[in-house]
Amino acid sequence: MLRLSGIEKGILRNGLPLKVLAGLDLEVGEGEFVSLLGPSGCGKTTLLNIVAGLIRPDSGRIFFNGREVSSCRGHVAYMQQDDLLLPWRTALENAILGPELKGADLHRARHEAEGLFHRFGLEGFEDHYPAELSGGMRQRVALIRTLLTGKRLFLLDEPFGSLDAMTRSVLHRYLLGVFEEFEKTILFVTHDLEEALLLSDRVYLLTARPARVKALLEVPLPRPRDRGEPRFIRLERELERLVQEELHVA
Ligand SMILES: Nc1ncnc2c1ncn2[C@@H]1O[C@H](COP(=O)(O)OP(=O)(O)OP(=O)(O)O)[C@@H](O)[C@H]1O
Ligand SMILES: [Mg+2]
Repeated sequence: MLRLSGIEKGILRNGLPLKVLAGLDLEVGEGEFVSLLGPSGCGKTTLLNIVAGLIRPDSGRIFFNGREVSSCRGHVAYMQQDDLLLPWRTALENAILGPELKGADLHRARHEAEGLFHRFGLEGFEDHYPAELSGGMRQRVALIRTLLTGKRLFLLDEPFGSLDAMTRSVLHRYLLGVFEEFEKTILFVTHDLEEALLLSDRVYLLTARPARVKALLEVPLPRPRDRGEPRFIRLERELERLVQEELHVA
């Protein structure tokens, strides 16, 4: 569905050139859950911004469904790292932002949103403002907003990074439910090794900046996954070793 080949990007920081992405290759198949795991500041968000079409790479090629494109703009739902909800809109109004901007049938969008609020355990909070919701609730609203774009490819940038472990594991369940039921394809950014292994079919481990693919790990385990299972622990150790190796080099 998505293929990136030789993506390079440099920026100027304090007037000095800084290489962020150094020839990155990556593939996400239809219906796959793929994680990008990499140290803080390595260039993960930069890469998602390139795929979403917010910035342009210096070189490299992007293919979407087999066709070369300049970006996937218009084809992806992007949940950005600091995806704050609009404070002056209620939770439901935030959730239906996508259909509203597209000029779609609002009555239908509201109806769909209400169904999802129910499903995500947010029933009764439709008319609350973001400031009245917990962090986990806000992320669920943002996830519903992402779903209501109707796109099949999701780019999710550390959506659960700021949540406590318990809330995060609840949200993992919601996300996997959505992934399976609505047949989505997900490119998921995280710097949490265990989160990557719990969720993904494949994990791309990136090097420290400038980012390249250091390793690609398949996770052939059925979901929901059990952290205590020997196969899970083996994969975790292997990934941990690769991460440590990278941190040493950096
Ligand atoms: N607009 C910008 N101006 C200056 N520097 C930038 C800009 N965008 C990114 N950078 C730098 O580029 C590097 C990569 O940033 P990026 O946000 O892609 O990293 P990241 O892997 O998403 O990090 P994190 O895990 O902390 O979110 C960082 O060193 C960052 O400081
Ligand atoms: Mg980032």
